[in-house]
Amino acid sequence: MASDPWTTDWWHGGVLYQVYVRSFADSDGDGIGDLHGLIDRLDHLEWLGVRGLWLSPITASPDRDWGYDVSDYRSVHPELGDLETFDRLVLESARRGIRILVDLVPNHTSDRHPWFVDARSSPDAAHRDFYVWVDPRGDGAPPNNWLSSFGGPAWTFDEPTGQWYLHNFLTEQPDLNWWDERVRDEFDGILRFWLDRGVAGFRIDVAHAMVKDRALRDNPPTTEDDHPVVRRLKLREVHNMNQPEVHDVLRRWRRVVDSYGPGRMLVGETWVFGLDQLVAFYGTGSDELDLGFNFPFAFAALDADELWAVVEATEARLPRGAWPVWFGSNHDVGRFPTRWCADDEARIRCALVLLMSLRGTAFLYYGDEIGMPEVPVPRERLRDPVGIRRWPEGRGRDPSRTPMQWTAGPGAGFTAPEADPWLPLGDAEACNVEAQERDPDSVLHLVRDLVRLRSSTAMGIGPYRTELRERGLWVWSRGDLTIAANLSGERTEVALPGRRVLIGSAPGRRGERVGPKTVLEPWEALVLAS
Ligand code: GLC
Repeated sequence: MASDPWTTDWWHGGVLYQVYVRSFADSDGDGIGDLHGLIDRLDHLEWLGVRGLWLSPITASPDRDWGYDVSDYRSVHPELGDLETFDRLVLESARRGIRILVDLVPNHTSDRHPWFVDARSSPDAAHRDFYVWVDPRGDGAPPNNWLSSFGGPAWTFDEPTGQWYLHNFLTEQPDLNWWDERVRDEFDGILRFWLDRGVAGFRIDVAHAMVKDRALRDNPPTTEDDHPVVRRLKLREVHNMNQPEVHDVLRRWRRVVDSYGPGRMLVGETWVFGLDQLVAFYGTGSDELDLGFNFPFAFAALDADELWAVVEATEARLPRGAWPVWFGSNHDVGRFPTRWCADDEARIRCALVLLMSLRGTAFLYYGDEIGMPEVPVPRERLRDPVGIRRWPEGRGRDPSRTPMQWTAGPGAGFTAPEADPWLPLGDAEACNVEAQERDPDSVLHLVRDLVRLRSSTAMGIGPYRTELRERGLWVWSRGDLTIAANLSGERTEVALPGRRVLIGSAPGRRGERVGPKTVLEPWEALVLAS
């Protein structure tokens, strides 16, 4: 049920965890993670205390974009398992108090999806209008200036049928035409298929993108005022996505999931950089998404000015009862230990305290709980089409998709020692779950302590208020708790007399009674009780 001010939903105080299934745990030694492997590792997630898992796409796919090119929405990719194993995963997770969210990819299909195979067979095919087709212009140029997010024009000419089709991503990912009612009906059925199997909801891929301008007008150029991430694309994506009618689709899905009773959740990949635009996806606070990922936050630096500004502005804009969501890593933006923290442990710990003590659902990406860094992937091992296209200027997304590091030694507990993992392993000797489990001062124990504190105190659902902002120092309260974070390389002092340290980002401060002048070391954060 969507949030209202008087109820709390399971994800509110909770921590959710993104599993990139191919890289999490391989049960059959083929070097590819699978659902069975995930079931075998549920005890770790229960021990950590996470309340829900977002599974990156598990549906059948030719994997041109690693699952985000779906060829059958009602299936499990044979490399990852089958529907029976999925059902077991839902059950085994539920026994541990963990809910499952699946990734829904509604903006585009694979070009091998039967709808597109049919659509491309003839201009009169039954499924032709499931996609966006346009006649050529006189000069043979694409219909407009829209660009693919992955580079090059967003249009491919289909010789046999003499029209262009739209793809906001790869040529092999044709965009669906959300003006066609039949597409909307099909997706209602797909949502129901997974809800009937017991999922708690969906992470919606490019949730802002589905509906396109009917007149297919050119996108305007970006200007200096646009967010740097938007400027990278050179054009403002105001016509190829981000149409007001996308909210009709989300409202429709809200009704579908709510018809399954309370506790069903929609979280959107709302890749937008204006916070007004972001909060619009919450609708009235109860009729669209429950959560919209906050990309301005993830793309800010680990800097008090930048992060604080996003948090304040988000808090000020959210409709009453709506709930923020914070994340630092995912399979597209990279891992925060490397991006924000340059793999420095003090910063990683400080960032984790921050992420998990703001008001809002915190999403961890697999490996965040051990501070796992990105892994350099050589050119010949790249699997991400974006990395392959952009090499050597860009490295693409593979460095943040490498296998989970469970143990030291060959295979890292991810796969059989003699197996060849689908992406190279990082330095599992230096960073792995098993070693950190044994060490009460490890990053892993810090994360577990933070998860627990969220479930038993105002760290979970208490209100947020800024108490102090100066230099690199940011102090905020969550009900009766105070969090002080020094996001700088300078030692600093703060006056928080009489409070007691519940959790410190650095080991050794728990239980300390702080005096009128509390020292915060560089990149240190404290959670304090009054
Ligand atoms: C989303 C996914 C990303 C994928 C893209 C196209 O942004 O998170 O991994 O490449 O959609 O489907």
